[in-house]
Amino acid sequence: MRSSPSAGGLYPTEIYILASNYKGLEDGIYNYQAQKHGLVLIQKNNVKSKLLEATFNHPEIECGNLFLILTGVFFRSSWRYQDRAYRRICLDTGHILGNIDLVSFPSNFKAVLIGGFNDKLINETLCLDEDEEQALAIISLSKKETISEFPCALPSKLEPQNTKTPEGMRLLQLHNRSKIENYVKVPNINIPDIEEKFKFSSKTLLEEEPHSFQWNKTLLPTILKRRSTRAFTGGPLTKEELNAILDFTYHPELFYADGLDPSPMYFDLSLVETFVAINDVDGLEDGCYYYSKKGRYLRQVRFKNFRDDIYYLCLGQELGYKASAIIFHTCDLPKSIFKYGERAYRYIHMDAGHLGQRINIAAINLNLGVSGIGGFFDDTVNDVLGIPEDEAVVYITTLGIPAKTISQ
Ligand SMILES: Cc1cc2nc3c(=O)[nH]c(=O)nc-3n(C[C@H](O)[C@H](O)[C@H](O)COP(=O)(O)O)c2cc1C
Repeated sequence: MRSSPSAGGLYPTEIYILASNYKGLEDGIYNYQAQKHGLVLIQKNNVKSKLLEATFNHPEIECGNLFLILTGVFFRSSWRYQDRAYRRICLDTGHILGNIDLVSFPSNFKAVLIGGFNDKLINETLCLDEDEEQALAIISLSKKETISEFPCALPSKLEPQNTKTPEGMRLLQLHNRSKIENYVKVPNINIPDIEEKFKFSSKTLLEEEPHSFQWNKTLLPTILKRRSTRAFTGGPLTKEELNAILDFTYHPELFYADGLDPSPMYFDLSLVETFVAINDVDGLEDGCYYYSKKGRYLRQVRFKNFRDDIYYLCLGQELGYKASAIIFHTCDLPKSIFKYGERAYRYIHMDAGHLGQRINIAAINLNLGVSGIGGFFDDTVNDVLGIPEDEAVVYITTLGIPAKTISQ
């Protein structure tokens, strides 16, 4: 029942449920026990007033009764991945946010995402030891028709970094530096349109008609059978399959009739760009493409087959070599940090993980193979694929035809 993936299978994310006058649950804080699919009451108090204070009087906390807090337990991942674990903790958490989002709407809830909160107050409310575990995201399970005007993401202070922190200490330092104490408005910064900034080649249009996934019947079975594919055959995907996955990931409004949320909440998707390397997709030339979320089209940025390069870039993983299409999520880090301070880093990685979960679910629904990849050579990936150097790759998701393996 591993409904969302986790880098290295280390599961650093915890889920707490806060109930306040919610029918069927005594007021208090519960920890969700994934293995037994149950709740453990860990505090009997009604902590809504603390939550309200910590979220700077967020209207959805004011009128809500049921809230989720997702936390990261740092050492579960950092013993293995050291400081880079921070990315994977946030990506993993983003995958879970994707699942929460997908199942909320059919369960008559709108998942209202809250990223701007006073960290210290939230961590204190949950009685967390901040050296071990801290809050990453809050969700109000609100009424389905809710349209939240409150910004999902708030900035943290941008402090000049004048100390050289030793390796192994940077994860906690970065997280602590990204904390918010007081409400600060999001500065009105325009992130320039990437297509205006860079001259990509002409457009390759994708299908007009969205694929019929029939989510009203298939969503839960698909989530429950999701697994990361351990080996691909190397065989081709079709252009229609790729298009269906991209549509489901970036155009949720197309699946409203299936009962899904037409506008799931992200921290700030304007920070995240998408590039797709095509190794073997029927109907598409091999190469690296920019994908326009707005326009539903691809623009080729480099013309060649990247199998060997991606094998190398993904630290020699077969998955990268045999994948038919590889999706790269990127962001302009300096601009993002200018907008949100150090906190940008967590927002970007959680949003990339959230998109990654939608890619996973769409691929599994189509009986295709899929796996996230968090280990890659950051300094060479842009140069090799032709992704503009301002755009740092934050996450890779591989797609292909699954090979039959015993562990599947
Ligand atoms: C952020 C992230 C990074 C990952 N990186 C890799 C990777 O580099 N190589 C790989 O084979 N699998 C990778 N995975 C897949 C995990 O190994 C997989 O999710 C985990 O073993 C649990 O298996 P399951 O997804 O089938 O439930 C990654 C998953 C996530 C969420």
